Amino acid sequence: MTRILITSALPYINGIKHLGTLAGSMLPADVFARFKRAQGHETLFICATDEHGTPTELAAAEAGMDAASFCLRQHEVQSDLAARFGLSWDHFGRSSSSQNREMTQTMARQLWENGFIEERVTQQVYSNADRRFLPDRYVIGTCPHCGYAAARGDQCENCTRVLDPADLLTPRSAVSGSEDIEIRPSKHLFLRQSLFAERLRTWIEGKKATWPLLVTSIALKWLDEGLQDRGITRDLEWGVPVNAEAWGPNPDGLRPDIEGLKGKVFYVWFDAPIEYIGATREWADATGGDWERWWRGEAASDVTYVQFMGKDNVPFHTVGFPCTLIGVNERLGPDGAWTPASNAPWKLVDRLKGFNWLDYYGGRFSTSQQRGVFMDQALELLPADYWRWWITANAPEGSDASFVWEQFQAQVNADLADVFGNFVNRILRFTESRFEGKVPEGGEDGPLEARLRVDIAEKLGELTTQLEAIEMRKSAQALRQLWVLGNQYLTEAAPWTAVKTDPDRAAVAVRMGLNLVALFARVSRPFIPFTCRVVAEAVGEGSSSAWPDASGALDLLPVGREVKAPAVLFRKIEADQVEAWRARFGGPEAG
Ligand code: 2FM
Ligand code: ZN
Repeated sequence: MTRILITSALPYINGIKHLGTLAGSMLPADVFARFKRAQGHETLFICATDEHGTPTELAAAEAGMDAASFCLRQHEVQSDLAARFGLSWDHFGRSSSSQNREMTQTMARQLWENGFIEERVTQQVYSNADRRFLPDRYVIGTCPHCGYAAARGDQCENCTRVLDPADLLTPRSAVSGSEDIEIRPSKHLFLRQSLFAERLRTWIEGKKATWPLLVTSIALKWLDEGLQDRGITRDLEWGVPVNAEAWGPNPDGLRPDIEGLKGKVFYVWFDAPIEYIGATREWADATGGDWERWWRGEAASDVTYVQFMGKDNVPFHTVGFPCTLIGVNERLGPDGAWTPASNAPWKLVDRLKGFNWLDYYGGRFSTSQQRGVFMDQALELLPADYWRWWITANAPEGSDASFVWEQFQAQVNADLADVFGNFVNRILRFTESRFEGKVPEGGEDGPLEARLRVDIAEKLGELTTQLEAIEMRKSAQALRQLWVLGNQYLTEAAPWTAVKTDPDRAAVAVRMGLNLVALFARVSRPFIPFTCRVVAEAVGEGSSSAWPDASGALDLLPVGREVKAPAVLFRKIEADQVEAWRARFGGPEAG
């Protein structure tokens, strides 16, 4: 059986995540991981906080903390929220870990030694008042094209022209507002991505049949526009130090300019994806596991590696990170041929699931503008399963999706309260009142049951296929249809009527109903795990979570098993709640 390695895009450390981040990576990755574990696959699900970069430094300064303490605290906050949302990663690491520092430095050294890193002198903006270099977007000034006074050094928000900080009129620091800034030369490392263009194109073309069109089209567009070499170092304090002291000569016999690279750190987008591996090492160090067998060479040949991310992350995962890994795994000869450079090459992603945006009333969720609903706020309003269900059922797969309170209310009430919750409570309460709270014996399947078995087998097959394909919306739809089949069956079999005239018939219907409950608890678990635990316990199935196959799907419970109706599983969301939430978070006007 293949082993499954799953990574979810690493959330930035600088703030609590909103529902859009959950929808675009963390939640679907969790649903898939839970499904794979239930099928019996050995599964490793990894995530971490993405902790480096200027936004972190600035957020820490704003909080009056140093970056390391800020990250430590925010990691705990995010870790706690993730647990409360039921995100079941095997390890939630930190890109600032010593394991990632070591991995990042080693990979950079190997890239240098394989000839894929070049030193270049670049002109950078330095703020005398802040005593630091400023990344382009932290330089603001007047746009030379349209006169907009608050244009950023990388782009003018008003006329959308791409800018260089040197273009700005009256440039100033966005950190302090000081105009005392100058351009200084600074040595940086560049990853020679341009050398990888054809190597990557061949690899991505080979994925066209299996990756979503969204993903391959973004990746190929990136290549079509011409792959640029990329600066992978920054003049910052907070990050993975370059540590060029440890490097040998490159293929041209050049040694790195150790002095010129002193005090520099790697660019956040260089070290962040390496943290997928770094976090696996953190996991191994914490548990005694073997991290290399998930990532390298022959030992990892039975691993399928699946990545989840929003569409903005696709270029970094189809181009940036693969360049790093290929550049460590292989060398490029003068004849243009690629040859192995390692006898334990790193695994590249096998399946890449990218998502569109989940919007808030058609506008973007925004961390900086605090628009939309954030994970901590969501849990103040409702338990995690409400959100998990709605987000999965409305996953932004084919196109962007939009969160609207009324639609959220209507769907959650219909699916979770009316269909799922009502079914479970109805049959369990009836079992308690008329069958002594036990799975009844007696009677035999009739035509209704025969048809139900066929229908359930078909839908269960569909659900399994859609989950296998990582089609979240279609999976949720198939699951909802399973629940509906259960409801329809109970309505037709009507044990509440049969019990008066034909107790055996009623026993068959109740037994079937209870088995449906047990089945639902198992197959709904990846989506709504908290509720499913309660439901499984209600039918004495607490520890049974194996994914059922069609043949035994409705024979899970032994006759005589004691069962107990749980408290109401899903309370309906009322109109006045929606009204209050809209007032608090904003409605259509917020888009
Ligand atoms: O877009 C983001 O939220 C990034 N922090 C994702 C990083 S994914 C990985 F490469 F680390
Ligand atoms: Zn402009």
